[in-house]
Amino acid sequence: MLIWAVGGGKGGTGKSLIANGLGLRLAERGSRVVLVDADFGGANQHTYCGLRHPGANLGRFFEGKASLEELILETRIPGLRMIPGNLNSPNTDGLTSAHKLKFFRHLRKLDADHVLLDLGAGTQYDTLDSFLLADVKVAVITPEPLAIENFYLFVKNLQFRQLGAVLGEMRLRDAAREVWKNRAAMGIATVLDLARHMGGTSAEFLERYRRERATLRLHLVLNEVREFRQVDQAMAARSAVLKFFQIPVDYAGFVHHDKDLWHQFGQSPGPILKGASFAMTHGLESVLDGILKARAERGLP
Ligand SMILES: Nc1ncnc2c1ncn2[C@@H]1O[C@H](COP(=O)(O)OP(=O)(O)O)[C@@H](O)[C@H]1O
Ligand SMILES: [Mg+2]
Repeated sequence: MLIWAVGGGKGGTGKSLIANGLGLRLAERGSRVVLVDADFGGANQHTYCGLRHPGANLGRFFEGKASLEELILETRIPGLRMIPGNLNSPNTDGLTSAHKLKFFRHLRKLDADHVLLDLGAGTQYDTLDSFLLADVKVAVITPEPLAIENFYLFVKNLQFRQLGAVLGEMRLRDAAREVWKNRAAMGIATVLDLARHMGGTSAEFLERYRRERATLRLHLVLNEVREFRQVDQAMAARSAVLKFFQIPVDYAGFVHHDKDLWHQFGQSPGPILKGASFAMTHGLESVLDGILKARAERGLP
């Protein structure tokens, strides 16, 4: 089973739409899919799935009152099911790491081929941690400076959070904090410099961090494309992330802006993308193929 996370920093770039579209396409190709609304502050994946009043939601799981299985809802598409996000509490900021690990442990036990997490905007730890723990990391941007800027920030924070987690695990956090305080004198400018320095002090850390770091590879989706030349912006974002953070990004493909999409909401029961335009459906298909191809090239399922 594969856990996917769809994130990317900025709100409104189409993360929920892309998560829904990928889930729908996977289900239509015969996989058993569970879409999980992990946008803890702005859950709306149920609406993309055509479910008006989802009822019990993830909040119950975090309160220890329901299992994930009990929260699963059917959609009108065979093979596509969903778990609604927390609609009761406006903010689940500060889920403990025990909560998060339990969440992932239970996600892995779901009876499904693919579990897709629709993440919230921003760089809250809950969002970064969910993204880092996923097997397939999908970032969604739109061709506009604000989205691309937030994407850099998102990647930078991912890198920082991942390093912090490994340092914490190895009980090196205080030592690293001291180094960071004196970074100017030590010629340390970036998170990677700090990681290298700490690697010089502990072979065990180096080995562990290298292993984690190798999982930090993103699939980039460009959404809301209006003109073909905008694809250049995804390429530029990809090169910048590689250059500044040394994090590889596989460009998965783009999805057109569909000016009639809003008509689909409330139009017919079931997932709104079921009735999407040919261009949108084709875009989602090619993005899914792009992601699966990039994984296959690395020998991954
Ligand atoms: N390719 C697209 N064409 C037209 N509208 C889109 C497209 N992608 C997203 N939208 C619309 O933009 C808004 C934000 O999308 P959403 O998926 O909710 O973003 P996010 O989850 O990143 O906050 C929604 O109203 C959605 O229907
Ligand atoms: Mg969303």
